[in-house]
Amino acid sequence: MSVPALKTPRNSFLPYGRQVIEDDDIAAVVEALKGDLLTTGPFVGRFEAALAKTVAASHAVVCANGTAALHMAARALNLGLGTTVVVPTVTFLATASAPHMNGAEIVFADVDPETGLMTPETLAAAIARAGKVDAVFNVHLNGQCGDLEGIADVARNAGARIVDDSCHAIGTAYVARDGSVSPVGSGAFTDLSVFSFHPVKTIAMGEGGAVTANDPDLAKRLVLARNHGMTRDPSDFANRDDAFDRDGAPNPWYYELTEPEFNWRANDIQCALGLSQIGKLGRFVARRRKIAALYDTLFASTAPLVRPMARTRPCLPAFHLYVARIDFERAGLSRAELMKALAAEGIGTQVHYYPVHRQPYYAKRFPTPTLPGADRYYSRALSLPLSAAMSGEDATRVAETLIRTVG
Ligand SMILES: Cc1ncc(COP(=O)(O)O)c(C=O)c1O
Repeated sequence: MSVPALKTPRNSFLPYGRQVIEDDDIAAVVEALKGDLLTTGPFVGRFEAALAKTVAASHAVVCANGTAALHMAARALNLGLGTTVVVPTVTFLATASAPHMNGAEIVFADVDPETGLMTPETLAAAIARAGKVDAVFNVHLNGQCGDLEGIADVARNAGARIVDDSCHAIGTAYVARDGSVSPVGSGAFTDLSVFSFHPVKTIAMGEGGAVTANDPDLAKRLVLARNHGMTRDPSDFANRDDAFDRDGAPNPWYYELTEPEFNWRANDIQCALGLSQIGKLGRFVARRRKIAALYDTLFASTAPLVRPMARTRPCLPAFHLYVARIDFERAGLSRAELMKALAAEGIGTQVHYYPVHRQPYYAKRFPTPTLPGADRYYSRALSLPLSAAMSGEDATRVAETLIRTVG
């Protein structure tokens, strides 16, 4: 399969993920830098409009990073003290830590041992353990969707709201049982969807994130959660004597505090980059799919030592990561030894993720029984280089080096 490179020096170190920044991205950032407002300037709204359109949501609220976006989602849904949130254990720390930092108790769900995704069954088991649930933070690990309708049924029957941690999945679409296709972020089966635009993700803002929503009240809560809980909407004002002038117009300096919140704003420089990058989403996703398909071909007959990444039920994935499943025991080398051997040949790899319930803090705070699906997924996972900057030659070199090293 011939896959020409977008832009990467040959034989250079291949990280497991990286951004693609082109001249027009740089020009967009320069334009923002020459503007009057470096904080909340015109690029913020423009990027929000482009993102909402891309994922077919009514509202997009951009912010400082994906962690901030998860925290804003927890604030908007009132997931504070006395509430319980279910989180799949194979994820980045922030999926659990953001709602927990807002006061919620976390209950960890097991995942499918092949895909690493939460299933309706593992969600139901976690809810049964918890006794009650207020929200489910579902993760589209690696850019793939699980059974979103099944998960939504279990969550709604338990009275829970649903947040999609879509930090891996900008550009992914879900194929429903009736054949309809909905982009991740459209809210077809969720209340809120959270994105990250960290440079290893499919599009980059440097640091950046967003929440998408369809409910205007939730969108308003998100905007407040992003900016100190300050409202300038006259219909919100309680101190009416202080808020309005003699002619009934709102005082131009006046704002009111609804509830204290943090400053989670994204600035105009980040949003100029995000806006430029989102125009390239289709091209970047297509390249990532080609590289993933090439890896699949190269690992088609290497089982049981190396298996290609497992696919999920109907879903049009925008791959954030390519996670090979490796039998380290059979290969007779540890994961660290393999990673070091690959690094010595200029190939970067990573592990996504050490199950969060095994982290010392969470193990002590929320003791969790053994989660065998997560343990099995974690024991075999190795993320190979994947980015829109890679060529077919790069992927072939990675696969051949890996196969040779595991023997
Ligand atoms: C699944 C998941 N959730 C949340 C985050 C947090 O995003 P950010 O790094 O933009 O804060 C990440 C980032 O790595 C992630 O992979």
